Amino acid sequence: MRRPFVAGNWKMNTTRAAGVALAKAVADDVRANKPPVDVAVCPPFPYLIPVGEAIAGSGVWLGAQNAYHAAPGAFTGETALTMLQDCGCQWVILGHSERRQFFGETDASVNQKIQAALAAKLGVIFCVGELLAERQSNQTEKILETQMAGGLAGLSPESLAKLVIAYEPVWAIGTGVTATPDQAEEAHAFLRQWLAGRFDSGLAETVRIQYGGSVKPDNAKELLSQPNVNGALVGGASLKADQFLPIIHAAAEIAAAG
Ligand code: PGA
Repeated sequence: MRRPFVAGNWKMNTTRAAGVALAKAVADDVRANKPPVDVAVCPPFPYLIPVGEAIAGSGVWLGAQNAYHAAPGAFTGETALTMLQDCGCQWVILGHSERRQFFGETDASVNQKIQAALAAKLGVIFCVGELLAERQSNQTEKILETQMAGGLAGLSPESLAKLVIAYEPVWAIGTGVTATPDQAEEAHAFLRQWLAGRFDSGLAETVRIQYGGSVKPDNAKELLSQPNVNGALVGGASLKADQFLPIIHAAAEIAAAG
């Protein structure tokens, strides 16, 4: 019922040539194997167009890593959602912890972006997750609740159709430390329960919740086998086809086994 979704968040990495080569390798594999999995690559802004050309017709989606909520205008250095669409994006990652940590994004600013992205008919990967100190002081659920309530404020039930949640514990991002499958499942189940309370349980069941934070070929299968883990948002391991493709294959295997 929930088709897994594996997205590669390239962050501020690759060159144009390396990005195009990576995208082609992903596209070739997806074209050949047709996994029962949604796959997206999210390159840096300057490479959206050449990467989009490299994956055209393969079934791989194109995503951006951020956007500004306002209509085009005098906002130096920002990128409008309509521009992302114009470059062929179907998805945008919003509220990533690096945006929150280094660029001052708040639940309120992320909410503006989510509302605008959904209004522009883009799919949204909305990131939430706690810091290590918050987990250690037993505040994980409180933090997730605050981020969900803030980020999704004012959203209609219909908008859930274009929304994917990414649970990314900040202590697991880029650190090589992964949440255990049990820790991931517990947080994902909590997020789904929260969605059921805020919207309704039938709708909550349809929402895909990705796990992110040091997902690698050797831990993907165990994480993706958890009932509430419906895909992965992959950083470091999405930069090499020989690491990203096995993660897609693991998701495909689990999906095929039903
Ligand atoms: P990582 O990054 O896989 O390198 O930990 C995940 C993310 O930040 O989306």
